[in-house]
Amino acid sequence: MTDPVKDSAILDTILAAAVDGMVVTDQNGTILQSNAATTKLFQRGPEELVGQNARILMPTDVASHHDGYMAQYMKTGQRRIIGIGRDVEGLRKDGTVFPLHVSVGNAEVDGQKLFVAIMHDLTNRKATEDALARSQRLDAIGQMTGGIAHDFNNLLTVIIGNLELLEMRGADDRQLALIKDALESAELGADLTSRLLIFARKGNLKPVKSDLREVCSQTLKMLNRTLGASYHIKTDFAPYVSPVMIDPVQLQSALMNLALNARDAMGAGGELLVSIANVTIDDTYMAQEIDMERGSYVRLSVSDNGEGMTPEAQKRAFEPFFTTKLNTGGTGLGLAMVYGFVKQSGGHITLYSELGLGTSFGLYFPALSNEQSERIPQSGGANIAYIGKGETVLVVEDNSKVRKLSIERIRDLGYKTLEAGTGDTAYQMLKDGAQADIVFSDLVMPGVLNGYDLAAKIAKEFPQLKVLITSGYASDVVTDTFAHETSFDILHKPYRQSDLAERLYALLAGSTAV
Ligand SMILES: Nc1ncnc2c1ncn2[C@@H]1O[C@H](COP(=O)(O)OP(=O)(O)OP(=O)(O)O)[C@@H](O)[C@H]1O
Ligand SMILES: [Mg+2]
Repeated sequence: MTDPVKDSAILDTILAAAVDGMVVTDQNGTILQSNAATTKLFQRGPEELVGQNARILMPTDVASHHDGYMAQYMKTGQRRIIGIGRDVEGLRKDGTVFPLHVSVGNAEVDGQKLFVAIMHDLTNRKATEDALARSQRLDAIGQMTGGIAHDFNNLLTVIIGNLELLEMRGADDRQLALIKDALESAELGADLTSRLLIFARKGNLKPVKSDLREVCSQTLKMLNRTLGASYHIKTDFAPYVSPVMIDPVQLQSALMNLALNARDAMGAGGELLVSIANVTIDDTYMAQEIDMERGSYVRLSVSDNGEGMTPEAQKRAFEPFFTTKLNTGGTGLGLAMVYGFVKQSGGHITLYSELGLGTSFGLYFPALSNEQSERIPQSGGANIAYIGKGETVLVVEDNSKVRKLSIERIRDLGYKTLEAGTGDTAYQMLKDGAQADIVFSDLVMPGVLNGYDLAAKIAKEFPQLKVLITSGYASDVVTDTFAHETSFDILHKPYRQSDLAERLYALLAGSTAV
């Protein structure tokens, strides 16, 4: 025989210990019992719940479904929620709604039907799923954008190059004016593609070991003037901050973008807070920031007390061309670039916003440990025309239009040329004794050898031969995929004739910028 008093004590203990919320109702949905986890979930204890209809725990639309399910089940025995589980929403006492999984079982005691609902909080899982979906969508858009921008870069290389040749070959004044207009537009196009490439994480980054506080201080000086007196910029920089590997120029542009967005959101005036600190990412962060690896980071946060963002805007803010400023000429590329830059730097970005209160962005960059060495930045270089002395350049490029143009440009600079359509052909030509002083090669080409492989083979077998690589993509592709020991000089497409001239000249003069 069982002891009913003891049984009920055990049952109470079980209910109290359960991690998930449990509620017992009668067939009308009136709550007969609720446990401690329910109190925590809904902010309502048994004293408030017992005697109430279970609808009190649901937002209106869920409640009306619930009534329907119950009536249907009582009438037909058809199961919509009873005996099965469902993802629904719960309503807390303070009016907030949260995702939860509910499963309902039924029993009969003394001829009375009873329902037992078990409710599991889905807030964390939902946040993780949303974050994953968001980052997957941005990845997909990024891949598409990167592909298109890369192809446009090739087209613009051809357009800009041909226009420059026309310009150099002596057009009359009227023609020169037309050429100038065309060049300007083509360069605007090149600017747009380069911004899209930054979003697609294929930007032309030159990371150097930096102290974020220094880079930001410089930018903030500039911003103080740009924003004007009605916006107050406050800074909070930690006394010790680890160095990070970032491109300072891109970081400045990111901070500018964030600050200008903040200004737009703050209307007549407001306060911008820029803070920098070391943070360690551990398990507590992981639930919401799914694609962030555990470890040490330096966080740059930029917060404003402006109008905030709607949930929809928060979801889409980093997408290229998403803007709520169509009237004032927003392009929707600001945050997309910030996003791409941070990701390409191995970092992570977070966004927190409350409508009417303000917005805060967190940019996390991996902290450099002491042993990680410094890479030397490339110098900018002057814009003088460097002319060749009849040396031979072997041009390796699979796109025949781009190849033809490069050959023209290089000849115009006083060099002789040889050409090859792939890295494999170029290598064979050299093996067969082709005489060249410099190999000017595209990076990504069909065949076995890409530009880097070709350069590596040349370094080994023809050490006197110089190599200049050109690419529409940038450093991450280069360093990640083709990690060769030596780093090679890269000329990024689309490039100006003067850049090409300077690079070829410098290589031949032996002062390779590595
Ligand atoms: N600090 C902020 N406060 C409120 N809303 C913001 C904030 N930052 C961005 N947004 C929202 O995100 C959208 C996208 O921002 P993004 O910087 O990418 O483009 P934009 O500012 O509209 O145009 P632009 O290309 O000129 O920067 C904005 O239109 C705005 O709705
Ligand atoms: Mg903007």
